[in-house]
Amino acid sequence: MTARRFPEGFLWGVATSALQIEGGQDEGGRGESVWDRYAAKPGAISDGSNPSRACDHYRRWREDVGLMKGLGVGAYRFSIAWPRVLPDGSGAPSRAGLDFYERLVDALLDAGIRPFATLNHWDMPQALMGGGGWASRDAVEAFVRYADAVTASLGDRVRSWATHNEPWCVATQGYEEAHHAPGLCDPPGALRAAHHLLLSHGRALDVIRANSPGSEVGIVLNLCPAESATDSDGDRDAARQFDGLFNRWYLEPLFRREYPADVIADRVRMGHLESSALPFVQAGDMATVGAPIDFLGINYYSRAVMRAGRQGNAVGVDVVPEDERTEMGWEVYPQGLTDILLRVHREYGPRRMYVTESGAAFQDAVGDNGRVSDPRRIDFLRRHMLAARRAIDAGVPLGGYFVWSLMDNFEWQYGYSKRFGLFRVDYDTCRRTAKESADWYRSTVALNAVEDDGPSAT
Ligand code: FCB
Repeated sequence: MTARRFPEGFLWGVATSALQIEGGQDEGGRGESVWDRYAAKPGAISDGSNPSRACDHYRRWREDVGLMKGLGVGAYRFSIAWPRVLPDGSGAPSRAGLDFYERLVDALLDAGIRPFATLNHWDMPQALMGGGGWASRDAVEAFVRYADAVTASLGDRVRSWATHNEPWCVATQGYEEAHHAPGLCDPPGALRAAHHLLLSHGRALDVIRANSPGSEVGIVLNLCPAESATDSDGDRDAARQFDGLFNRWYLEPLFRREYPADVIADRVRMGHLESSALPFVQAGDMATVGAPIDFLGINYYSRAVMRAGRQGNAVGVDVVPEDERTEMGWEVYPQGLTDILLRVHREYGPRRMYVTESGAAFQDAVGDNGRVSDPRRIDFLRRHMLAARRAIDAGVPLGGYFVWSLMDNFEWQYGYSKRFGLFRVDYDTCRRTAKESADWYRSTVALNAVEDDGPSAT
């Protein structure tokens, strides 16, 4: 085995999000979020659970900062709960809500951990659904006011800001496929939602920079390389379609100030748009969306292999046996991380990139000795870190890597059934137990290096 070192100053971190860990749903005057409402719908969450207590981080945050300190990580990516700060989506910001994050940020700084804050990790205040949520242009101003409130309070201490997490998930899964909050099946509304998310990102940049001078501001996308199952024209077109909506629909406006023409044509064909003129784009919008950012965060979990469906639609296929997939059913495919980092670097050239999420769900259990052995998670992380390292070798300006997740948590429509954590959470007691992957990550961070057993190790 050879140790592959990472560049000096490489930022190793862990990631979580507010709704998935905090609980404390009614504490401190927090308002209802779209995810609270969605999770209450019978059948929406596969294990019948809800996020009302989650990991009880709202009460246990000190302990959680201690866990991170023990890991030795340099950064913590977390999100601010929008309905804690603006319970009804408008009006005066809640002092109690902001205080919670001030205390958390201060404790992180005391522990020598860089706070890396995401403003919108999907938990929009339910009250904003009255106006249509992200499908309405009013959401843009609502988000900018929220960004202003948060950064006015934390801008002197938080130096890394992400506006949104994975806008594709919000727009497509939330407004088109109904797998996520708010649970709508409205394809034209999903296109509007995507635009309003991007526009609100662009509008918020100046506000954040004014409140938090000298900080880095960016956005987090989930990117997924798309390959065609065969060389047939139909399958190749299916891969193009997937890549178009999942990746390029966000990358092109952010870095080239335009939406991809082929995806617009797809949507006209599908009847989701009347013509190629996008009715929701107003003069000046694209310049706002494409305003320069300091970093792009990439969440990477797997690739997509696509084939043509009967109606000319794109269908994903499984190309590997179950034991090469995670508990989510996602193929373990580290090379895809190298590929996507290189592609984004070459085609779009963001100044800096971070892997803002990388990790895997496996069903690990507590052994008789009280230990949680999770060799597959360790192997997953090790191979993905090496994939990131190959991208750095090829010139990608990668500043850091955040493991999803610090601890098991509420995995959206799957509830508590999927465990992504370095720490196991017992949901009866909320007790956290380090898995072997946590110990492995601690030594990785300390060495700033990952063991490589590959043939070309040097
Ligand atoms: C990402 C989300 C994150 C988590 C992981 C598994 O899409 O950003 O909150 O659920 O997937």
